[in-house]
Amino acid sequence: MIIPVLLAGGSGNRLWPLSRELYPKQCINLTGGNQTLIQQTVSRIHACKLSQDPIIVCNNEHRFLIAQQLTELGASGEILLEPAARNTAAAVALAAFEALERSSAAKILVLPADHVIEDTEAFCAAIALADALADEGKLVTFGVVPSYPEPGYGYIEATQYGEVSSIGAFHEKPDVETAKKYLAAGNYYWNSGMFLFPARVFVDELKRFEPEIYEAVAESIATKYVDLDFIRAGESAFEKAPSVSVDVAVMERTDLGMVVPYRGDWNDVGSWSSVYDTQSKDENGNVVQGDVILHDTENSFVRSQARLVSAVGVTDLAIIDTPDALLVMNRHRAQDVKEVVAQLKASG
Ligand code: GDD
Ligand code: MG
Repeated sequence: MIIPVLLAGGSGNRLWPLSRELYPKQCINLTGGNQTLIQQTVSRIHACKLSQDPIIVCNNEHRFLIAQQLTELGASGEILLEPAARNTAAAVALAAFEALERSSAAKILVLPADHVIEDTEAFCAAIALADALADEGKLVTFGVVPSYPEPGYGYIEATQYGEVSSIGAFHEKPDVETAKKYLAAGNYYWNSGMFLFPARVFVDELKRFEPEIYEAVAESIATKYVDLDFIRAGESAFEKAPSVSVDVAVMERTDLGMVVPYRGDWNDVGSWSSVYDTQSKDENGNVVQGDVILHDTENSFVRSQARLVSAVGVTDLAIIDTPDALLVMNRHRAQDVKEVVAQLKASG
């Protein structure tokens, strides 16, 4: 039994002014289709014929928005509320304990709710491959075959080339020069942040490597309670969990890790330049969304939500217009949007 687990805890700072604290990236339609990122994630699960209701781990502020987006899709799911942000190891552990209550043999398919993946067939094929390994008690991570030396991702070093491999090492966010060496070597994948775990094996390994997280989350699940349509994990216990990513807490240390290559498209759409990268361009390399008129403009991304936006004689710009905030920036400086958000937070 595979239970999908959607990590929906982030807010997507670098996608300001569209993503906000109360309207996070996973709930936005970034790609111009008719579904938000979390809806696309749920649709993909259905396409792979995974029949168990997903467990969606998110924070209190986003609960109604996420519930509404599931309803719009006609999908059901269990919304499990984290009392505090304690990074992905604790979030995955919450879901693992919850899944074990459904079945002691449950496997969890951990999927960030904010990724863009178009090639559903390749995605489902990778899951089938991983499923066989999980049945042997392995902790499986999905490695994306890298197409360029992106410094914004972590890299997984496989011990062998080919279909499946054990994990040599994780290398979190290298500089571009190091990333180039990884691509040349050929046995490195982008760390997708997607996993398939036998839930029991995962919590046992967590207990071994991070007993404090294990204890805090086990107690939090033991003190969970139902509130309307939501399940609330016990607050005081959860808050005691150290904040560590699942990669660092378990995957970098376990001997049971395996990597399955995913050979389709994948983008974690962390910034406006990665949104631009996922879209097809016009003959001048532009991507437009909404009511936009361009003249003599190249390699730019222009998105308008509520009014006509026009650009003349510019190159490499990103222009994102919303009713109450406008962002104009060099498209190659997309990572720096978080500095604007930091200033906004500082000014209250
Ligand atoms: N529920 C919940 N709670 N979700 C969380 C939490 C949390 O406390 N923290 C992070 N997440 C979710 C985010 O919403 C996102 O979908 C995913 O977990 C990864 O977190 P990020 O904060 O986006 O991590 P990152 O982009 O810096 O790096 C990680 O992901 C990359 C791929 O997208 C690393 O695992 C990299 O190695 C990896 O390449
Ligand atoms: Mg990310």
